[in-house]
Amino acid sequence: MMGGNVTACKVAYRGKIPPFIVMEVMRAAAERERSGGAVYHMEVGQPGTGAPSGVVRAAQEALAGNRLGYTVALGIPELRTAIARHYSTYYGVSVPAERIVVTTGSSGGFMLSFLAAFDAGDRVALAAPGYPCYRNILSALGVEPVSLPTTAADRFQPTPALLDRARSDGPVQGLIVASPSNPTGTMLGTDQFSELIDYCRAHGIRFISDEIYHGITYERRADTAAAFSDNAVIINSFSKYFSMTGWRLGWMVVPDDLARAVESLAQNLFISPPTLSQLAAVAAFDCRNELDANVARYAANRALLLEELPRAGFSDLAPADGAFYIYADVSHMTNDSEAFCSRILAETGVAVTPGVDFDPDRGKRFLRFSFAGMTDEVAAGAAALTDWQAK
Ligand SMILES: Cc1ncc(COP(=O)(O)O)c(C=O)c1O
Repeated sequence: MMGGNVTACKVAYRGKIPPFIVMEVMRAAAERERSGGAVYHMEVGQPGTGAPSGVVRAAQEALAGNRLGYTVALGIPELRTAIARHYSTYYGVSVPAERIVVTTGSSGGFMLSFLAAFDAGDRVALAAPGYPCYRNILSALGVEPVSLPTTAADRFQPTPALLDRARSDGPVQGLIVASPSNPTGTMLGTDQFSELIDYCRAHGIRFISDEIYHGITYERRADTAAAFSDNAVIINSFSKYFSMTGWRLGWMVVPDDLARAVESLAQNLFISPPTLSQLAAVAAFDCRNELDANVARYAANRALLLEELPRAGFSDLAPADGAFYIYADVSHMTNDSEAFCSRILAETGVAVTPGVDFDPDRGKRFLRFSFAGMTDEVAAGAAALTDWQAK
């Protein structure tokens, strides 16, 4: 230990953002497991499966035969071409490979797009409830997140009326939309989607579309912003439909006016996305049968929960059109969802996420159930909740 005076160093204000609460629930669940308690995981939004076998095979080949150096910052051309092809085969929309940027998960895409599109002091609107990291990353960058308090009547999605209200407090430079959304799984109708894009076009608001849950829908395919506009920023990922969370790979479709800024930022911030993951992900688009079988499992889990949760007293549920979440209004049971989740974990072993992660105000009266896991675990969790309520 060195002697002499010690003067405390500065800790930056911008780093003081709230934790991602679901990660804290995961930690409490892991502690319970370590001390021998059973846990039914309905907290984390992570597929219960690994990457499809074609991707694993491609990774093994790449590991054996490739030096795995850096790639160009925007991603390997084979993967950018495969992603561009996905837009024409899946959505019937033409997107040139030059507009695709491969990223380190969609999380990397948020950093790149927020830095390229917004300055400190700008205001960016987003739905509450919504994915907490949008709000927290924006805050860390000095951009003000402006919550749009959505309701079940709007399918928990932004509307022009909510944007009008946000703009009456000051100019809004961006809007983040997720359809299907986390935590509600609700989707915008095609007309509502195009109406929002038109609104943003008319008012100079940058439209950012988080399309990470595309491919996991139960009634109809979700619309891509690329079908309506060349100026929207689209963010997507291999984490959810493609079942590759730990491979840390995603992509963006960038408009021409942001392309150069995104490239320079990507070079400086990340150098390149993970090379092994990129080489393997080219095969992901040929693994549809395996991936669609995962979606069939989510559909079965969803049906099971829609039947079982009301029996356990959770009857006020958002209409989940996609993703693998059910957002439940539990105002008849608690007004402190964090304490309620701790109690549920302690008394039943079911790990669920409190709504405050997604909506700091009204989320005190909501919980999010994830049904991304295997059906046995989801069924056992639902049964534990029903037994608990019966006591
Ligand atoms: C709506 C939404 N966007 C983005 C992410 C981040 O995903 P990743 O960085 O793994 O692509 C998540 C993760 O749960 C999410 O729910």
